[in-house]
Amino acid sequence: MTDTATLILDGKEHQLPLVVGTEGERAVDIQTLRNNTGYVTLDPGYANTASCESAITFIDGEKGLLHYRGIPIEQFAAHPNFVEVSWLLIFGRLPTMREYTEFAHDLNAHANLDESMKHIFQGFPRSAPPMAILSAMINGLSCFHPELMELEDKTQFRRAAARLISKIRTIAAYAYRHSLGKPYIYPDPNLRYVPNFLHMMFSQPYEPYYCDEDVRDAVNLLLILHADHEQNCSTSTVRMVGSSQANLFASCAAGVCALWGPRHGGANVEVLHMLEQIHAGQITPEEYVAMAKDKESKVRLMGFGHRVYKNFDPRAKMLAKVAERLLRDRGKNDPLLNIARKLEEIALEDPYFVERKLYPNVDFYSGIIMRAIGIPTSMFTVMFAIGRLPGWIAHWWEQNQEAGGMIARPRQVYTGNNSTDYLLMERR
Ligand code: ACO
Repeated sequence: MTDTATLILDGKEHQLPLVVGTEGERAVDIQTLRNNTGYVTLDPGYANTASCESAITFIDGEKGLLHYRGIPIEQFAAHPNFVEVSWLLIFGRLPTMREYTEFAHDLNAHANLDESMKHIFQGFPRSAPPMAILSAMINGLSCFHPELMELEDKTQFRRAAARLISKIRTIAAYAYRHSLGKPYIYPDPNLRYVPNFLHMMFSQPYEPYYCDEDVRDAVNLLLILHADHEQNCSTSTVRMVGSSQANLFASCAAGVCALWGPRHGGANVEVLHMLEQIHAGQITPEEYVAMAKDKESKVRLMGFGHRVYKNFDPRAKMLAKVAERLLRDRGKNDPLLNIARKLEEIALEDPYFVERKLYPNVDFYSGIIMRAIGIPTSMFTVMFAIGRLPGWIAHWWEQNQEAGGMIARPRQVYTGNNSTDYLLMERR
């Protein structure tokens, strides 16, 4: 393979270097393009743009592969441990026993929120969307931990990362309790990450919630499968905000907002609404698929399709199995699972979906697992955010550590008015 690409513009040849990643993905390096030619590239939605080099996560969308720091995600299924995977993503390798224990201890030691934050929760209406509360409260952590706004070294960064990963579940659980008007349940330092979160969500005063191993493992795996996905919309947002040297809390709060949208993390809520609509008999699976194919309807088959995967999303495959196992072991039969299976079957045989390579994505089955555990639909995207947080932190830090890091500032092709004059109001 050559190591440059030749671009001919206005009859003149320009050589652009080629870059090859460790898994063989190829890129044309256009960093000198504008300076040398006066041209920029136009790529709405960045579908053809690598915004950075990153060593965190690898996706092969054609083969349906997802690796965290080189490890295929399937290998986390046997003993799912979200805290361990968080460490791996953030610090670049699996932790030693000592590193893991220290990190887990830090998570437990800092799970409480400053008591004043409770007053902020109380200021929100009961009906406030939990994603709005989550973003506001994560941003609010900058006010309560000013010592972690500027991270001078790795030790300080580790402290900030642990605070954030620990406190996001307390914020999430308090947002839920607030929506119900129930008392906040303090974190229990004797519980591990996931059982502690479920305890804060579901315990009543003097009536502790019991988390069995199946539920603990299912939630750990769910969080792991959401933990990173390279330059998706929310992670790119975190990097974009972080590139201005905004602090970790502010950058991750922005990530929550980006995740909220129905074309990104908010799709898990939309999937459930779609399945419930079908279950209520308002529409059949066949009619829903037909509507999703009709461009006039503006409806999409939620939980289907992905910018990168043009094959099965490996996370969807794993989550479908977890959903089935969890329901079977608990002797439950959720009709929504059968409806999801039916929709998948219809879509995968339909030329519209086949030709466009649209397959179930991570959001298609995750809601069924969360429902089985008792997590309400309003909290689905919050669960996604808890899972995605270590990925955001890893990317924020990776970018922060780059020598000579640049502020993210794309160009545009201007299509507005040509130079024109201001007119006084009375003359318009
Ligand atoms: N249902 C029906 N048609 C679809 C769907 C869908 N779910 N997804 C894509 N298409 C169609 C588009 O209409 C388009 O058709 P056209 O070529 O005839 O115009 C074609 O497939 C390509 O779609 P794009 O929107 O251009 O693909 P893109 O890569 O930009 O979008 C996305 C990916 C946003 C995920 C899209 O597939 C979608 O909206 N899916 C439903 C929402 C969803 O599940 N989002 C979660 C994604 S995973 C995540 O973020 C966690």
